[in-house]
Amino acid sequence: MNCWSQARRAPPGSANRSPESAALPQVRTQLFLCRSFDTVAGLRLALIGYGNVGRAFARLLDRKKSQFPFRIVAIHTLRHGSAFDTHGLPQEPAFGPPAQSIEEFLDRATAEIVVEVTSLNPATGEPAISHIRAAFARRVHVITANKGPIAHCYASLRTEAANAGVMFRFESTCMDGAPVFNLVRDHLPGVRVLGFTGVLNSTSKVVVEVMRQGGSFQDGIEQARRMGIAETDVSYDIDGWDSAAKTAALANVLLDARMTPLDVERKGIGRLTTDRVQELAAKRKTVSLVSRARLVNGGVRLRVRAEVLDDTDLLASVKGTSNLLLIETDLMGTVGTVSISPGVDQTAYGIFSDLVDIARCL
Ligand SMILES: NC(=O)c1ccc[n+]([C@@H]2O[C@H](COP(=O)([O-])OP(=O)(O)OC[C@H]3O[C@@H](n4cnc5c(N)ncnc54)[C@H](OP(=O)(O)O)[C@@H]3O)[C@@H](O)[C@H]2O)c1
Repeated sequence: MNCWSQARRAPPGSANRSPESAALPQVRTQLFLCRSFDTVAGLRLALIGYGNVGRAFARLLDRKKSQFPFRIVAIHTLRHGSAFDTHGLPQEPAFGPPAQSIEEFLDRATAEIVVEVTSLNPATGEPAISHIRAAFARRVHVITANKGPIAHCYASLRTEAANAGVMFRFESTCMDGAPVFNLVRDHLPGVRVLGFTGVLNSTSKVVVEVMRQGGSFQDGIEQARRMGIAETDVSYDIDGWDSAAKTAALANVLLDARMTPLDVERKGIGRLTTDRVQELAAKRKTVSLVSRARLVNGGVRLRVRAEVLDDTDLLASVKGTSNLLLIETDLMGTVGTVSISPGVDQTAYGIFSDLVDIARCL
C-alpha cells in the first residue's frame, strides 16, 4: 500500500457514524478528531533541524497542545547539538553534544514520526534525503518542509516509504503550508493533473516591485534581505533555482515527472533593469518569474522564466511574499491555491497539517 492510499484509509470508527452526524458536517469533523486523537495521544516526534521552521513548529504545537497532544522527544541540529526527553522537550531545550550520526540519533529518539527541517541543498537534496531514508529504515513516518528530497528523488522515496509501511508528507515544501498536495490527494478524487502554472518565488517579485518604484536591482535584493525572504545565496532566487526546485517537486508529485531542478528550462530575472521595468509599467505590464509544467508527447516539460504579464493578469496579482498556483486538470478544469503574505508560521502549519493527517491514519 502506498502512502497516498494509506492516507485515504477510513479513520477508526468512521463506518459507525450516526445518520445525525452525517447531516452535520462540522459535528462530524469534531467527532472524527476526538476519536482519532484519543488513540494517538502523546505521539512522539523527533525533529531533525531546529532553525526558523523547527522553532515555529514547536511554538505551534505548544499553542495547540490541549487539543493535539503530540510530544517532541528529540531534536538534532548541526551545530547546537542534540536533545532528548521522552516526557517532551521544552521550546528552549538544553542541547547536549550532537549524536554521532543520524542513525544513532534516531535509535535513541525512538520517535514514531520524524520532522525533517534541515537547510535546503537545491543541487543534491542532501543531507535531507539520507535523513529521510534513515527514518524509513526504522519504520518511522516522515514529514519534511525541505523541497530538496521531493525535487530530486520523490518517486524513490515514495516507494521506499511504501515498502517500509510508513507515511511520507511534505505539504510545506512549495507554498509554505497552503494546501497543494493534500488538495489534490484528498479533495480531487479521480482527477488527472495535466499541468500547472505558478508564481512561487517571493524575492524576485520584491526585486521587480522595487524597480517599478524606481529603485535599482540591488535595492530590490536588499529589500528582500531586510524582509528575511532571500535565500542565503540570493542567486538561487534571481536565477530561478528556487522556482526550479519547487517546479520539479510539484511535477514529481502531481505529474509523476521523475525530474530534478536541473531538468527545468530556466531563465531568471538577472538581466532585468529599472528602465525596462518602468517602460513596461507605463504600458500597464510587469515581469514575473513564472513556473510552468505541461504534459507534452507523453513526457513532461518544465519551465521557469521571467515573463511579461499584463498588470491585470491573475499571475501578476500576487505581490511581495504572496504566491499562487493554478492546477490544470481533466475533470475540474483549472483550480488554484493562493497564499497571501505567508511566513514561517504558515510553513509550520503545513507541517502540523501533515502531522494531523498521519495521526488520523494511525
Ligand atoms: N523559512 C521558511 O519560511 C521556509 C518555508 C518553506 C520551506 N522551508 C524549508 O524548511 C527547511 C528549514 O528552513 P529554516 O528556515 O528553518 O532553516 P534554518 O533556520 O537555516 O535552520 C536549519 C536547521 O537545520 C539544521 N541543520 C542543517 N544541516 C544539518 C545537518 N546536516 N544535520 C542536522 N541538522 C542540520 C541547522 O542546525 P544548527 O541550528 O545547528 O545550525 C538548523 O537547526 C529548509 O529546507 C527550507 O527550505 C523554509
